[in-house]
Amino acid sequence: MNILVTGGLGYIGSHLSLALDKKGYKVKIIDKEIENKKSLEKKILKFSSNITIHYCNIGHSDELDNFFDQNNIDFIFHFAGLKSVPESHKFPEKYYETNVKGTEKLLNAFSKKNKNLKRFVFSSSASVYGKPIYLPLDENHSLQPLSPYGESKVLAEEILKKTFKHKDSWSVLCLRYFNPVGDKLNHFYKEKKPAYLKNLFENILDVIEGKKQKLKIYGQDYKTPDKTCIRDFIHIDDLISGHISAMTYMLKQDSPLWDVFNLGTGSGYSVLETLRTFENIYSTSIQYEYFGRRKGDIAISYSNPSKAKDILKWKSSYGLEEMVKSIKG
Ligand SMILES: NC(=O)c1ccc[n+]([C@@H]2O[C@H](COP(=O)([O-])OP(=O)(O)OC[C@H]3O[C@@H](n4cnc5c(N)ncnc54)[C@H](O)[C@@H]3O)[C@@H](O)[C@H]2O)c1
Repeated sequence: MNILVTGGLGYIGSHLSLALDKKGYKVKIIDKEIENKKSLEKKILKFSSNITIHYCNIGHSDELDNFFDQNNIDFIFHFAGLKSVPESHKFPEKYYETNVKGTEKLLNAFSKKNKNLKRFVFSSSASVYGKPIYLPLDENHSLQPLSPYGESKVLAEEILKKTFKHKDSWSVLCLRYFNPVGDKLNHFYKEKKPAYLKNLFENILDVIEGKKQKLKIYGQDYKTPDKTCIRDFIHIDDLISGHISAMTYMLKQDSPLWDVFNLGTGSGYSVLETLRTFENIYSTSIQYEYFGRRKGDIAISYSNPSKAKDILKWKSSYGLEEMVKSIKG
């Protein structure tokens, strides 16, 4: 079976590509940043000589058509996209073009070439829910995103649902990730990038490694026990096993399918609790400084992962301590 991983030179896509390759699947990556990601490309090709990496921008239909003309694809994991909430407030059109229009173009190109059951897994996000009306967040929670990024994920999910409804022969799952952390490739946490593109773990590590003096904590007046935000961190290994479970489930169904699943642990940890866990495991003290709340941040977000447990037969295995330990090595 030929699997296309869009955005396969990104954080989650590269981890999944190697996991799929290890299981014996034929993996083809498309990404638009090959030139800037030579060291990662090398690393992936060192681990596997079977994975192929192709330049293709999902915003360009001609490049997509060209790719599908030359490659038979049975299954797509669609990761290519933009993912920063703060950046999306600055450049909402860019997020719409890439995350919404790009997804639409990819669906059209795939549909032109593959007349069989088209299996498609979409990387969605917990940001689709917005401010929780109740917790933990389950898949039936209303969708009221607070950022152009979250809106782009809702719109892409809607397009996928319409595609599934109006054309037969589509099998689509949307996976709503909570807060992925960890770096098994030992690559992404070393990348030079602006702080807004780094997750909490990466920003804490920057302080531990002396690259920054203090951790910036946004908001000290949330209605949480220690007044800082609470999030559901999920280790990259668990996230990847969630994708494999989703694929296994889809491959068992011969008829069209549509569904949405949370991928989270079901436990929330505050920024300060996370920082203290790093302090314990690294036996160090971490300086921090409070700043005002960030636009679009909510106080508490954590998942109800029971639907994925019941239907996909998947559950996470890493707790916060194991996640931090996995980074320290
Ligand atoms: N990492 C997270 O915290 C998180 C959380 C929830 C959802 N997601 C979603 O998961 C997906 C993957 O996230 P990630 O963390 O691996 O992101 P990433 O930024 O590391 O990877 C995205 C990849 O997509 C590629 N890409 C972007 N625009 C493209 C285009 N027009 N054509 C082709 N390739 C393009 C980039 O070059 C990059 O390699 C994204 O859709 C993101 O929104 C991520």
